Amino acid sequence: MADELKRGLEGVLVAESDLSYVDGEVGKLVYRGYDIEDLARGASYEEVLYLLWHGSLPTADELDAFAADLAAERDVDDDVIETVRALADAGERPMAALRTATSMLSAYDPESDESDEEATLRQGRRITAKIPTVLAAFERVRQGEEPVAPDPDLSHAGNFLYMLAGTEPDAVSEETFDMALTLHADHGLNASTFTAMVIGSTMADVYSGVTGGIGALSGPLHGGANQDVMEVLHEIDASSKDPVQWVKDTREDGGRIPGFGHRVYKVKDPRAKILEEKLRDLAESSGDTKWLDYTTAIEEYLTDQGLVEKGIAPNVDFYSGSVYDSLGIPVDMYTPIFAMSRAGGWIAHVAEYQADNRLIRPRARYTGPEDAEFVPLDER
Ligand SMILES: CC(C)(COP(=O)(O)OP(=O)(O)OC[C@H]1O[C@@H](n2cnc3c(N)ncnc32)[C@H](O)[C@@H]1OP(=O)(O)O)[C@@H](O)C(=O)NCCC(=O)NCCS
Repeated sequence: MADELKRGLEGVLVAESDLSYVDGEVGKLVYRGYDIEDLARGASYEEVLYLLWHGSLPTADELDAFAADLAAERDVDDDVIETVRALADAGERPMAALRTATSMLSAYDPESDESDEEATLRQGRRITAKIPTVLAAFERVRQGEEPVAPDPDLSHAGNFLYMLAGTEPDAVSEETFDMALTLHADHGLNASTFTAMVIGSTMADVYSGVTGGIGALSGPLHGGANQDVMEVLHEIDASSKDPVQWVKDTREDGGRIPGFGHRVYKVKDPRAKILEEKLRDLAESSGDTKWLDYTTAIEEYLTDQGLVEKGIAPNVDFYSGSVYDSLGIPVDMYTPIFAMSRAGGWIAHVAEYQADNRLIRPRARYTGPEDAEFVPLDER
C-alpha cells in the first residue's frame, strides 16, 4: 500500500487545513465552514481575505482597519512600474509579466527574508494589495496609456477597475467583480496552491510562494482555461459558427471543451452556478445575451450528450470569462485576475502550513536502468 503510485497525487492527503473544503460529489465549496454562496452574495473580498488570514469574519471595526491597512499598501515602487513598462514593450504575456513583477516586489519589502506565520501575513498583505496595481499598470501601458495611481478610498475590487479604466466603476460592475474575486479566493489544494505550499515548506519567503503559484496557475489545465473559453466564444462569434457545431467538431477532433471537467468536481461547480446567474442578470440588464446564448447552448448540448452526467460538468472558468467581458476586461487579463484573487488563498495556505511546517518531499518510483557501467568520456 505504501508503494501505491498516485499519478498527479490524485486523492492523496498531504496536509490538514482549516481554510477551504471542496465536496466534488455534491458540488459544495466552503471557506472556513461558510458556504461560498453566502460569502459570494453577502461578503466583500476584503471580508473573505480577513476570514482566510485571521480565522473568523471581521466585525465592522476590524474590517475598516483591515481594509485601510490593505489599501495603504497599494503603491508600488517606480522601478517596478518601469519594469512593467519594459515587459509590456517586449510583448510579454500578462501572467509572465505578473510573475516577474511579483518576484521583484520583494526587493522593496524590508522584511522579505522572514518567513514565520506573522511575517508571511504582513508580506502577504503587501503582495495582495500591490498585484492589482501591477496588473492595471501593465494593461494600461500595453494600451499606450499612462498607469493610474491607486485610490485608497476605493474597495479592492473597485480600485482595480478604476486603475484599469481610469474612471470609477459603477456599483453593479464593482459588486460583480468583487463577487468574482470572492469566488476565486481559495479552493483546497489545487495545483497552484500546492506549488505555493511546497515552496513555503522550505521556509522560503511568501514572495517565492506566490511567484511559483502564478507560474502554476498560468497553465491551460488550471487557470488558463477561463481565457480559452472566451477565445472559443469569440472564435464562434467571428466565424458565425453554431456553438453546438463548434463543440461537435472539437470533440470529433479529440479536443477538450475548455471550462468543462474538473479534478475534484463531478457535478457542476458551485462557482459556475453563481457566475451563470450573474451573467444572466448582466445580459438581461444590458439586453446583450450573446455570450449567455452561446454558453447555454454548449452546456445544454453537452448535458444531452451525457457528458455532464459522466462528471464532465461546467467549472468556474466556463462563465467567468463572459462576466469579465461584460466588465470590459481584455481576454488575456482573465487568468491574471484569477491570480489576483487566488493570491489571498496561496498566502493563507503558506501561513497555515508554515505554522506547523514539515518539508514537502515526496518520492518517485525509480524506473531507470540499474547497474549501468560508466564509460569515461574519451572512450564513449
Ligand atoms: C480540468 C481537467 C484537467 C481535469 O482532468 P482530469 O481529472 O485529469 O481528468 P482526465 O484528463 O483524466 O479526463 C477524464 C476523461 O474525461 C475527458 N474530459 C475531461 N475534461 C474534458 C473536457 N473539458 N472536454 C472533453 N472531455 C473531457 C477526458 O478526455 C477523459 O476521457 P477518457 O477517459 O475517455 O480519456 C480536465 O477536465 C480538462 O482538461 N478540462 C478542460 C480545461 C479546464 O476547463 N480547466 C479548468 C479547470 S478549473
